[in-house]
Amino acid sequence: MSLPAGIFINGVTGEVPDANEHYIKTIGELRGLYRDVTAFDTYLRDCGDGPAYAVAGYRQADSDIIFGTTTMQPGKIGDEYFMTRGHYHVRRDCGEVYYTQSGHGVLLLQTREGETREVTMAPGVCAFIPPDWAHRSVNTGPEPLVFAWFCQATAGHDYGDILSHGMRKLAVERADTLAIVANPGF
Ligand code: F6R
Ligand code: ZN
Repeated sequence: MSLPAGIFINGVTGEVPDANEHYIKTIGELRGLYRDVTAFDTYLRDCGDGPAYAVAGYRQADSDIIFGTTTMQPGKIGDEYFMTRGHYHVRRDCGEVYYTQSGHGVLLLQTREGETREVTMAPGVCAFIPPDWAHRSVNTGPEPLVFAWFCQATAGHDYGDILSHGMRKLAVERADTLAIVANPGF
């Protein structure tokens, strides 16, 4: 049986002391995500492999809801800011909420039909992700980007489509500022 609980989230580090699910994605594991393969190899050679983002989740058995945090390190590969893999949910009726607690970024969203949207991620902004919109978060600032996420426990992650085709839009740095551009490789 699920029981009520008050779960502390550190909005600066993203740590959730009571989290019972954790994983880290290193830059090296994200080969293929970034368009500039030479920049990717140069980054790994010069900076070494290290965490790109960490996910902590809180799940209670039998509950319909899970939540947790994602903590994204700042950085760039070529002109692309550090980003998550991006996914649809397996269950097409399941949306999600991202509540940014620190740092700055952009949430790239797209439908299977080709519609795209961007939502700014900044402290205090709650991003609503409707059902069946693919979502990828991008850290566009110099600090870690920390956001809490809340979704259905059985939503599931479908990475296949984004992994093989990328997303329609890229978040890149142009003249020292963020630009959202069409992905020429899509
Ligand atoms: C869960 C969710 C987030 C992401 C996390 C990492 O549905 O959207 O917890 O899973 O931010 O992103 P991905 O999974 O795209 O690597
Ligand atoms: Zn999701």
